[in-house]
Amino acid sequence: MRYQFIDRERELNILEKEYRSKGTRLIIVYGRRRIGKTFLLNKFASNKKHLFYIAIESSKNIIYRDISNKISTLLGKPIGLLEDIEQVLELLTREFKDRFLIVLDEFQYIVEADPETPSRLQRFIDLNPNTNLVIVLSGSAVSFFEKQLLGYKSPLFGRRTASIQLKPLRFLDTWRFYEKYSALEALKAYAAFGPTPAYARYVNDDLDVFSNILDNILRPGSYLYDEALNFMRQEFREPSTYVAIINGVVDGYTRPVELANIARITSKTITKYIEVLEKLFIIERVYSLGRKRGNVQIEVIDPYFYFWFKYVKPYMNQLESGDEERVLEIVEKTYNEYLAHIVETLVRRELLLDAISLNLIKAETGKVGKWWYKGEEIDVVITSKNMCLFAEVKWSDMSKQEALREARILEAKASRTGLQKSVNKYAVVARRIEDIKKPVEEKQQYVLVDLLKLLETLKHKHTMS
Ligand SMILES: Nc1ncnc2c1ncn2[C@@H]1O[C@H](COP(=O)(O)OP(=O)(O)OP(=O)(O)O)[C@@H](O)[C@H]1O
Ligand SMILES: [Mg+2]
Repeated sequence: MRYQFIDRERELNILEKEYRSKGTRLIIVYGRRRIGKTFLLNKFASNKKHLFYIAIESSKNIIYRDISNKISTLLGKPIGLLEDIEQVLELLTREFKDRFLIVLDEFQYIVEADPETPSRLQRFIDLNPNTNLVIVLSGSAVSFFEKQLLGYKSPLFGRRTASIQLKPLRFLDTWRFYEKYSALEALKAYAAFGPTPAYARYVNDDLDVFSNILDNILRPGSYLYDEALNFMRQEFREPSTYVAIINGVVDGYTRPVELANIARITSKTITKYIEVLEKLFIIERVYSLGRKRGNVQIEVIDPYFYFWFKYVKPYMNQLESGDEERVLEIVEKTYNEYLAHIVETLVRRELLLDAISLNLIKAETGKVGKWWYKGEEIDVVITSKNMCLFAEVKWSDMSKQEALREARILEAKASRTGLQKSVNKYAVVARRIEDIKKPVEEKQQYVLVDLLKLLETLKHKHTMS
């Protein structure tokens, strides 16, 4: 099943809609390395007349020689040497009378080789608004696309007809990469491989999770052993500050000031770094709802990076000297505790909202955050106009009795938050709740959630929809 095309329906719809629209279209598709851009665009292009060019880091001459050759093959006739993007687009307009798709993947390399490209593209589009061309520019240099191509200083500002930032998958979609796994196994796999399709596909669901971790992450030379490092080297000119920040969060420092200290930068500049890491979906700011601004915690939201900083980076010497089995033992011994963090974040970011939108929990979606004050904390708070849902996430098994007791404690805590609305619900999400039959049992204002049952139900409904 690992070769099926997973999710990305929204993105495909946008692309198809552009394709069906009239006139010259310019679409920008960007997103961090390995997130699935090329895969998506291949799928989109597969049933259309198209030219798909993946640029390499090279000179202008070589790039345009390659493009010219491709077009000549497509047309089945010699066309001579095209020299820049305008000449390419003009020729395609002349030669193809029906809708024609041109994808320029790794577009940043074309701009590097020929910095006039954006201006030339702008001129072509301004002079030729009614061609049959659908032009897609794609690449992984997120800051390049956001600032240089989409920014107001770019010649292409206002010319694009659509832009798509490709994001990591949701948990329920990621699970499809290892769909033989039970809910518990899927959580364990997700906690190490994360929501990136290119990483998730390494999980072989005929083997157990820990063997997969050993073979694909802990083993020096395996793909995910050094992918995190490669990622950061590619993404950042100065990786060390980013590394220090992520390290800090993994070590349990969650406040921006603390992280600024650890990374030896000022508490003013830390925000800039945090924003960059947020755009890459590696970390996220979580707010304590209902309190004044400045009350924020930083969380790692991509489990692969979390895992790598926790279990690979500190043990590199040991791993390099062939002691993977010993490190795996450490992973196995501490994994439950590690999983508790991952699950709490996942419940807040996705699972409660999934359960609400599939009507398994009767509540309204709204603003999502946490609440904390003077050592007290509530894991999830979802507030909407008339309603507030408070939730605690417990990565342990409990009886219905115990869950209800937790819910009452939560209710008492919630009364001190100032967040209560006319309708309030207090949910306890536990790994398993013995003696409840359904995934969710609501009793007055209390909502008891058996997480593993909930996941199986969500998976089922998700596959059906
Ligand atoms: N929607 C998807 N469903 C299934 N597998 C996917 C999906 N998207 C990506 N993959 C898998 O991940 C691999 C990497 O994706 P892809 O090459 O498209 O990433 P990319 O964003 O183009 O990366 P780069 O920036 O490194 O070029 C694909 O070869 C495919 O195996
Ligand atoms: Mg690609």
